Amino acid sequence: FKIQWFPGHMTKAKRMMESQIKLVDVVVEMLDARIPRSSTNPMLQDILGSKPKVIALNKIDMADKAQTDVWLEKIKHSGLPVCKIDCAPGKGVKQLISAVQLAAKPVIDKWLKKGVRNRPVRVMIVGIPNVGKSTLINRLVGKNKVMAADKPGVTRGQQWVTIAKGLELLDTPGVLWPKFDDPSVGFALAVTGAIKEDVFDREQAVELLLDLLIRKYPQDLQNKYAVSLEQGDDVNAVMAKIAVARGCLKSGGQLDIDKVVQLVLRDFRAGRLGRFTIDEP
Ligand code: G4P
Repeated sequence: FKIQWFPGHMTKAKRMMESQIKLVDVVVEMLDARIPRSSTNPMLQDILGSKPKVIALNKIDMADKAQTDVWLEKIKHSGLPVCKIDCAPGKGVKQLISAVQLAAKPVIDKWLKKGVRNRPVRVMIVGIPNVGKSTLINRLVGKNKVMAADKPGVTRGQQWVTIAKGLELLDTPGVLWPKFDDPSVGFALAVTGAIKEDVFDREQAVELLLDLLIRKYPQDLQNKYAVSLEQGDDVNAVMAKIAVARGCLKSGGQLDIDKVVQLVLRDFRAGRLGRFTIDEP
């Protein structure tokens, strides 16, 4: 599974991130709970050095509940503070603030030793496109004044906003680039909507998605499209069943597979198929 991606974009985003991260004391990396491995950034740790990082597993409402808990334990076990959030309605956001405050404690202690008092801790949200950064910032800031910014390179009009006592948030997120060299990661990013549809083969993505759903979540497929899956049904058979059930037909009565591809991708991205975790813990 291939993604068309330009290395120049990555170099620019990395430089941008390096200069932005210098401004902050704590970083919140947002991951998509459906794809915690694929939505993490390969180079962030190098850029951060010893700067504290808190992981926010977002979109838990769309992920498999049991798998999210396994992921949570796994991340905790690796020594990183982690919170699960669903920032669209604002679930878990308070806990995230507490986790950031806790992560900042060593920094504050260091300042105190140097005699620095009452200095606000500065925090920044980073993550790959579409993971929910702007939504979280809007939640934290409390007003709808942050525009969605998918492009790396937003420096004009950046602002620090106090979100809790002694805690200031940069009101523009840091946009990270994901790793594209691993085909399974490319697939995960494509189906969850982290990358735009024009840089991958949609039909191939949906074939892989259906293959995964047939193996791991057949019941959800059957329920959503009112089809019955038989033992041994492959992706093509299931696509054909969905086409018939949904009336995806061309004028001559042939199955309109393009339409099925569009339908499944749209339903999956909107969470209408159910709650799934693509990356296995
Ligand atoms: P970004 O800044 O990281 O790029 O992401 P942004 O906040 O713009 O959020 C991307 C989409 O994800 C938005 O959907 C947003 O509502 C949705 N989203 C954010 N957090 C959550 C969450 O916890 N749960 C769910 N279910 N959705 C969440 P959108 O406005 O419909 O945009 P799009 O999907 O049409 O791109």
